[in-house]
Amino acid sequence: MTQVLCIAGARPNFMKIAPVMAALAETGIAAQLLHTGQHYDAAMSDGFFADLGIPPPDHHLEVGSGSHAVQTAEVMKRFEPVLENVQPAAVLVVGDVNSTLACALVAAKRGVRVIHVEAGLRSYDRSMPEEINRVLTDQISDLLFTTEKSALANLVREGIDPARVEFVGNVMIDTLYRNLERAVPAARTLGTALPQYAVLTLHRPSNVDDPHTLAALLDVVGEINRSLPVVLPLHPRTRANIEKFGFTARLDGLHLLPPVGYLEMLGLMRDARLVLTDSGGIQEETTALGVPCLTLRENTERPITLSEGTNTLVGPDPAAIRAAFAEVMAGGGKAGRIPEYWDGRAAMRIAYTLKGWLPMQKGRRSA
Ligand code: UD1
Repeated sequence: MTQVLCIAGARPNFMKIAPVMAALAETGIAAQLLHTGQHYDAAMSDGFFADLGIPPPDHHLEVGSGSHAVQTAEVMKRFEPVLENVQPAAVLVVGDVNSTLACALVAAKRGVRVIHVEAGLRSYDRSMPEEINRVLTDQISDLLFTTEKSALANLVREGIDPARVEFVGNVMIDTLYRNLERAVPAARTLGTALPQYAVLTLHRPSNVDDPHTLAALLDVVGEINRSLPVVLPLHPRTRANIEKFGFTARLDGLHLLPPVGYLEMLGLMRDARLVLTDSGGIQEETTALGVPCLTLRENTERPITLSEGTNTLVGPDPAAIRAAFAEVMAGGGKAGRIPEYWDGRAAMRIAYTLKGWLPMQKGRRSA
């Protein structure tokens, strides 16, 4: 009998689910994996399964792209019959993407226990789709695993019983340590050895959906590129918008790449002088790698990367980016330290807790 049905849907989920699946197998907890298909192409999905040794999904919903409502609704519709068929004791979701909330909601309504890995992170910015997914998923979760201590305070503020929350550390960093030796050297990914370079990732709707913001960002990146070569693996959303707005010429001179695989990205970050990003996960990965990170957002849901790690919150304003870049070039950037429990053992902590917790979950909650 399957005890835990694990969910993955989009690129940032895959590096989180990999160590969880491995730890469940190691501790003898019967698990199955479901891929919603929110991300579906080789560059955004399949390559990660191969690189990270994730077992092929037992179920695939193949939802594909759509508006948030369509995507979330499609996952819910297609997930419900699978859940009824598998009858797990619990559904385990990770992170904050649309698939996370959609599957948690179906499970909660069906009276199936919900486990949320990476709970309690808050940007306090409700214009971010992920923030809505985080708040709602946490509200309907039975067991909440956190990556940093600030998360508990956020959850308590929202009325969640602290007895359901456990600080276990960061499963994504488990994956990072496990794969660091296999990281593809930057020179191989780039096809040339750059003595120094910056890596840029850009895909948040707030940065790439508005032509004025995107133009200003690409222009300041162009300036940076004149003193430190900028490598840019282009997210499909960003590429589409650059084409739509007629901004292709603004990419001239940058080292453009298609979306890269996990081991390529790890190598690119590890060997970089500096990372500029609007991603959530990359703020944490650069902290674990000790590489300075400038975050091109107004806020972060991962404050430990600021207080202990190598991250600096800069926002999308070109003058602020220019100043922060100059500071890193002059002073080397923040050194930081590794946060508590970002030690490669987070997924095993989760599995040990589940060993004790699952047998206590008798039957369904009344729906
Ligand atoms: C989603 C997540 C975000 C995460 C990001 C990482 C939500 C709300 N957002 O945003 O948290 O940081 O993934 O990538 O869940 N596309 C492809 N190939 C794919 C997948 C998508 O070309 O395999 C295209 C889609 O057609 C769409 C665009 O990329 O035009 C955006 O994809 P979507 O899943 O809607 O959201 P992301 O912006 O990627």
